[in-house]
Amino acid sequence: MRGKQTVDSFDVLYIELTGNCNLNCVHCGNEEENSKHLGFSHLERLLEEFNAGHGKKLVLTGGEPLLHPNIREILDVATSHNYNTKLSTNASLLNHPRFAFVLDYDLGFRVSLDGTSEVHNKIRRNFQAYDSLIAAMEKISERERQIVIRTTVMKPNVDSVVDMLFELGRLTKENRLKIYSDNIWPMRNIGKADAALMLSATEYQKFLKDLNQRTRNFHPSFKIIVGPTFGFESEFEGGPIQSNQIYKCDIINASLHIAHNGDIYPCSFIHHPLGNIAETSLSEVFRSEKSVQFRKIFLDRSNHDCDDCTVYEACQAGCIAERYRELFKPNRQPIKDAYCFREGSCE
Ligand SMILES: C[S@@+](CC[C@H](N)C(=O)[O-])C[C@H]1O[C@@H](n2cnc3c(N)ncnc32)[C@H](O)[C@@H]1O
Ligand code: SF4
Ligand code: SF4
Repeated sequence: MRGKQTVDSFDVLYIELTGNCNLNCVHCGNEEENSKHLGFSHLERLLEEFNAGHGKKLVLTGGEPLLHPNIREILDVATSHNYNTKLSTNASLLNHPRFAFVLDYDLGFRVSLDGTSEVHNKIRRNFQAYDSLIAAMEKISERERQIVIRTTVMKPNVDSVVDMLFELGRLTKENRLKIYSDNIWPMRNIGKADAALMLSATEYQKFLKDLNQRTRNFHPSFKIIVGPTFGFESEFEGGPIQSNQIYKCDIINASLHIAHNGDIYPCSFIHHPLGNIAETSLSEVFRSEKSVQFRKIFLDRSNHDCDDCTVYEACQAGCIAERYRELFKPNRQPIKDAYCFREGSCE
């Protein structure tokens, strides 16, 4: 039973090193920005404990994780534990000589690209963001480190994603970039994000159709993974697009997220504190009554508005992070993914 899991059984630890960021993106779902960093001594202990529990995969994120004052020491500790470490970064600081050392570490890079040059710069509210990201990706590629791109789909870039993919196709063909994949996810209404930028379920479905039609003859050297797809995945067959399994939402059983103030969340999209690293250990939190109850309510099919859905086993209500609070109300309403475009969707 899930509630009996120990720290051994979760795979990935996400750590938000800092709330500070050098950009101010239109869609950013973090809480209000502040310059609070996760204390280094807490971090050392956390990484020690994750290691003792046979944890393997670490994702360092933010804000902008490179702005943590002890980033070098943190990478040293992560390396000493032999974690499979990914750095989730907007990458712009990697062009600065002060951060050249980061490329000496054996890390994977998760970077964000949200459209063609003009669109990306508008979303990132920085007129150099695109050029600076491409330059940083070239440096990472030269060092043969893995690059996973993450693209967040929303109103400002919905018409730019296909052109962005073709441009990435050109840059990889010219061998300027080596990319493992581009993961394309819709924007979520979390933290300080502006919900008005979200696509409706119908617009999201149209986006998937358009993406499918326009990429049929595209043969990139990198994977393109899109999700959630609500049963649409069979339409992608024969083309380059794959459906994103993460929306089967294993995240709640397989990972924990540490916020920059030490609060422990089930995932970066669910700001529901299960404890704080200053007061409790990871294994205690994972096994606590609060976590067990949370998982139980979250995963209970009767709380999902997906009656008779033929793809439920694969989808399991999609990403319900935005609406999870509904589940804790006394007269709770069943919920499902805000982007679900199947018959009977609640949009
Ligand atoms: C929070 S950022 C942290 C790392 C780094 N600052 C960056 O932008 O890549 C991690 C990823 O979350 C994405 N993101 C931010 N706000 C989001 C939202 N409201 N919905 C979905 N994804 C979001 C970003 O675009 C980025 O790809
Ligand atoms: S999305 Fe990333 S780069 Fe943009 S403001 Fe948020 S944390 Fe910073
Ligand atoms: S009805 Fe529920 S299970 Fe079916 S596709 Fe929509 S969100 Fe997924």
